[in-house]
Amino acid sequence: MAVLVTGGLGFIGSHAVVELLQEGLDVVIVDDLSNSSKEVLSRIAKITGIKPFFYPFNVCKLNKLKEVFEKHIISEIIHFAGFKAVGESSSKPLEYYDNNLNSTLALLKMMEKYQVKKMIFSSSATVYGERDDLPFNEGMTITHATNPYGETKIMNEIILRDVAISRPDYAITVLRYANPIGAHSSGLIGEKPSDIPNNLLPYIQRVASKKLNELAVFGDDYPTTDGTGVRDYIHVTDLAKGHVLALKKMVARTGFHVYNLGTGRGTSVLELVAAFERENHVKIPYRIAARRSGDIATSYLDVTLAKNELGFQTKLTINDAVRDAYRFEIRGSKLDKTKLLKKESIKK
Ligand code: UFG
Repeated sequence: MAVLVTGGLGFIGSHAVVELLQEGLDVVIVDDLSNSSKEVLSRIAKITGIKPFFYPFNVCKLNKLKEVFEKHIISEIIHFAGFKAVGESSSKPLEYYDNNLNSTLALLKMMEKYQVKKMIFSSSATVYGERDDLPFNEGMTITHATNPYGETKIMNEIILRDVAISRPDYAITVLRYANPIGAHSSGLIGEKPSDIPNNLLPYIQRVASKKLNELAVFGDDYPTTDGTGVRDYIHVTDLAKGHVLALKKMVARTGFHVYNLGTGRGTSVLELVAAFERENHVKIPYRIAARRSGDIATSYLDVTLAKNELGFQTKLTINDAVRDAYRFEIRGSKLDKTKLLKKESIKK
């Protein structure tokens, strides 16, 4: 019996795979490497001592998925795979709807065919859209997100809810994430966008390691304590552990369940910059820039339900996250260079 983890080499997926393996579970990863690297698999093996099964293809490919379900007895699915760049989703809506919806539909078809009855779906706080009633809780009516990426999360949630209603023997859990940051404490896995980072902490990391000159702070005129955007930043390891709790809870129950996973607290852009500087003893040059289109002022989550029903509690702080992120920035790139040097010497 194995847990199928789609997108298992990505930022959140790889941390979840580590936690699952450390719980003694067997893991099968499907990841098309569109925003990840095969190197992550070796790093997962280095951390856990176990190399999970890995299949490099896009989850929408039904024939290849079938082969995986034929080969392994899948007991649960954790579906992380998906396109996730908010800005890009507005310029490429078709790609986003195509990939992010068809991947879920393909998995649901496989569930029916192979009698797999349990799935956890990666959703996002972005489904709450822009609203004044904070913190966001699971009981709020979901209408529209501010971008196509967010809309794909809402549509996926609807599809999963309807399938769960039609199949009372299924257990489907939707996890709505706050902003995941940080990296594994080993410094071996973390967030490594292949392009210029869109998200705040990866951008700060690159400024700290002098790969980028300065951070642009998108707006200082929001109605927040210091005028900059406020988010609920959760350490990716805490978030990953939330999946293990959700998985354990699903074993003995059915139905459709939704949980927020966050810290319940908001941190501004400038507070995150200050924490990074203080904890890592580096200066982060920044300038105030215009607001980024589609951004909201404040987002943080009510996590009472996950606490009460799953026993979810974050243990790591923003300070841990910024230290771990910088360790990954330094260690991760050092390892990359060593690998490159090795490759070059093999060529010679
Ligand atoms: N920000 C900057 N400069 C940057 C990048 C970001 O000032 O270079 C600011 C943003 O304006 C915002 C905050 O930092 O106020 C956080 O921005 P991120 O891009 O890191 O995160 P978002 O809140 O925009 O979105 C993230 C994920 C989404 C997810 C959402 C859930 O990218 O996928 O969190 O809340 F849906």
